Order: sequence, then C-alpha cells, then structure tokens
Amino acid sequence: MDTRTAEGASLLVTRIGTLAVVPPGPVPGQHMRDVPLVPDAAVLIRDGRIAWFGPAREAPLDEGTVMLSAHGGCVIPGLIDAHTHIPFVGDRSGEFVRRLAGESYLSIMESGGGIRSTCRAVRSASLDELVAANLPRLHRMLEYGVTRVECKSGYGLSPEHELKQLEAIRELDRQQPIDLEPTFLGAHALPDEFDGRPDEFLETIASPALLHEVSRRGLAFFCDVFCDRGAFTVEQARRVLERASAAGLRPKLHADELAQIGASSLAGELRAVSADHLECIDDAGIAALKAAGAVAVVLPGTSFYLGIPHCDARRLIDADVPVAVATDYNPGSCMIESLPWVMNIACCQLRMLPTEVLVACTANAAAALDVHRRTGAVEIGYDADLTVLDVPSLDAWFYTPGRPRVRAVIKAGHVVYRRPEYAL
Ligand code: NIG
Ligand code: FE
Repeated sequence: MDTRTAEGASLLVTRIGTLAVVPPGPVPGQHMRDVPLVPDAAVLIRDGRIAWFGPAREAPLDEGTVMLSAHGGCVIPGLIDAHTHIPFVGDRSGEFVRRLAGESYLSIMESGGGIRSTCRAVRSASLDELVAANLPRLHRMLEYGVTRVECKSGYGLSPEHELKQLEAIRELDRQQPIDLEPTFLGAHALPDEFDGRPDEFLETIASPALLHEVSRRGLAFFCDVFCDRGAFTVEQARRVLERASAAGLRPKLHADELAQIGASSLAGELRAVSADHLECIDDAGIAALKAAGAVAVVLPGTSFYLGIPHCDARRLIDADVPVAVATDYNPGSCMIESLPWVMNIACCQLRMLPTEVLVACTANAAAALDVHRRTGAVEIGYDADLTVLDVPSLDAWFYTPGRPRVRAVIKAGHVVYRRPEYAL
C-alpha cells in the first residue's frame, strides 16, 4: 500500500485533469472563489515538498524521477479537518433516537447525558483502548483524502483523564500517516462530581500548573472552551483562555452554537486563532472576528445532524472573514467522519461554491491550525500533501455527493493511500 520513493528521489504526478492551485491561507471570504484551475497539469515533488507545478508539457524531469499518473483526475491539496473531538469511545445512538423523537441536545445534556455520558466511557477506557478505538477512524479519514486533523480532549474532564486523552492523540499521531494537531478542551462540560460548581471545576481543569504542563510537554498547541448556554459563560471562558495564553496555548472557542451570549466577540477580543460553530453569530461577532484576523470554522454537519439552523456562511464570506469548514466529528452532535460529505452539505445547504468549499477545507483550515505557512496550498516549498480524485474537475466532484472519489493520497511526497483498483 505504502509506495515510498527512495530518499532524495523526486516524484512527478502527471496526467492531472485539473490541478486546483489553492493559494496559501488565510484566504479572506471574498477571495475564496478565486482558485486557479490548471488543466492537463503536473506537480513535481522533491524532498517531500512541492518543487514545481504547471502544464504537464512543461514539466522538468530530474534523473530518476518516479512517475505517478493521476489518470486524468483532479488533484487538490490534502484535505484538513480543523475541528474534531477524536479520540472518543462509547455509544450515544440512544440519544440520537431521543432527539429524533423530539428531545433537544440541550435537554439531553441537562438530564446527565451528552458530553457527560462520553466522559464516563472515556474515563473507563485505558490509553491503549482509546488508541485502538480511534485508529480505524483515522484510517477511514485518510481514505476520504484527509491529511491533517485537529483532535480535542474534553471527554476526560479531570487532569488525569484529560492528559490520557492528549497522550492518546500523540500516540495516534505516531501510528498512522495523518498529522494530528492537538487541542486542550478541559472546559468542555461539568463532570458529574462538580455539578453546580463550575468555578471550582475550572480551578482544577484550568489551573496554571496543568496548562503549563500541557504546553511544556507539547501535548496541545491550542486551548478551546465550550462557551455557550448550558456550558461555560463568557467570563469563565475569558479566565481559562487568558491563563492558557500565558502558558503558551493559543485560544480557540466553541462559539454561538446554541445561543448568542457573546462568545464570538470574546474570540475577537482574545485574538483567538479561530471561532468555531457560529450558528447564532451576530454582527458584533463578525466584526470582532474580522478585526482579529480569526478564522471562522463552520460545522454544517452538526446542524444537519442536530436539525438546528445552519450558520450563515455566505454572510461571513461576504464580510470577507476567512471561512473554514470542518466535521466536528464527535459521538453526540455529529457522528459524521467524512469531510467530503460535510463539504457537500456546505455546498448544497450553505450555498458555498466548490472552490470556496475547497479553500475552506485546505488553506483556511490550515490557518485555523496555524500551519498555513507550510501546508494547505499548492505552492512551491509547501508540504507535498495532495489528494488525487477520480473525477476530472472540482465541479464534477461536488455534483456527485456520497461517492468515494479519492484515488490516492500523497503525504509529504509519499503515496500513503491508494484505492485498491487504482493502478499506478
Ligand atoms: O462541538 N458543542 C460542544 N461540543 C461538541 C459536542 C460534544 C458532544 O456532544 O459530545 C460539539 O458539538
Ligand atoms: Fe466541537
């Protein structure tokens, strides 16, 4: 399966039907549709990086270059899922059906289900069990063309179990080709033992000592807080994220998902790297994100899955905010692991154009993870993370939702996945 080029040898991806030349992020909303599409293209990869790209007839040929035919398929940057709740264990299909029968996400959460239910399952699992349960998920994500995934803690809800989750992310990163970007989300929900005592809980889960340990050991790069009705207040989120910044963890926020309580404005005030969800964002929130240069991470799979109104992504795009789209893959509000499927929801229900959705899941997703200076784009010197599709154009890809369209995935210049029937 793993076709590695000899160290130092270059790889020429040829017979590309359309090369989507996504520019480096962050791409402001109004430019997200501007992706040059090069027909009959080739990409030369050297030392794991993009060394050249352009019309195939002009491709330079190094001695010993290995050729890989795209068979007329479209080539895009490897997809980046900038918001997931991997790793988790447990099953909440009963809650799924309760919601279908009329209960709300919030009322299930208030009755002791929701995040608390997954917390109990994660606390009972060993580190090895967490890794084993989540490795197949990442293998499937690779098959969807994904080369980088953000992973959050937030189901341990005690220092011991949050650290176990972060260690599981580190181990998962080692065991498969997708690069994982870890986020500490200790302030995700109140665990059973702190019922009614949120401030005492935050003193435990967001103590300067714990935040410094997470940062010093490189167990997370970001700190996220679920700031919403039924979760943590703006004041509590500010306290946690200011401490996190002091410890070297960059702020992110779950903002404006269930209600408008000022969370996206807080994201702007704290110069968060991203504000995520935004179903209930208001004008003040949009202005704050824009002023701070924060990425708006929209999660249309969650609205689809919960049956709640979508974020108005077109309003964010028109306001020139850089927009990313991600799965929010988690066992409660979005058990959808396929980023291409969520991209189709963004297209059909948020009315985003194929080029806008592609930028949202590559360049702008990279910006939401602060890795946009080296990945998420087709640019000389950028990481050679590329996904080869079996359709000749982006439009044809988005036109056929639900079909697996990935022929091969290249990570840092190596073919790390190819569909079994696909002959190189
Ligand atoms: O992003 N909103 C908060 N957290 C997750 C849901 C987590 C869960 O239900 O387990 C989300 O939707
Ligand atoms: Fe989330």
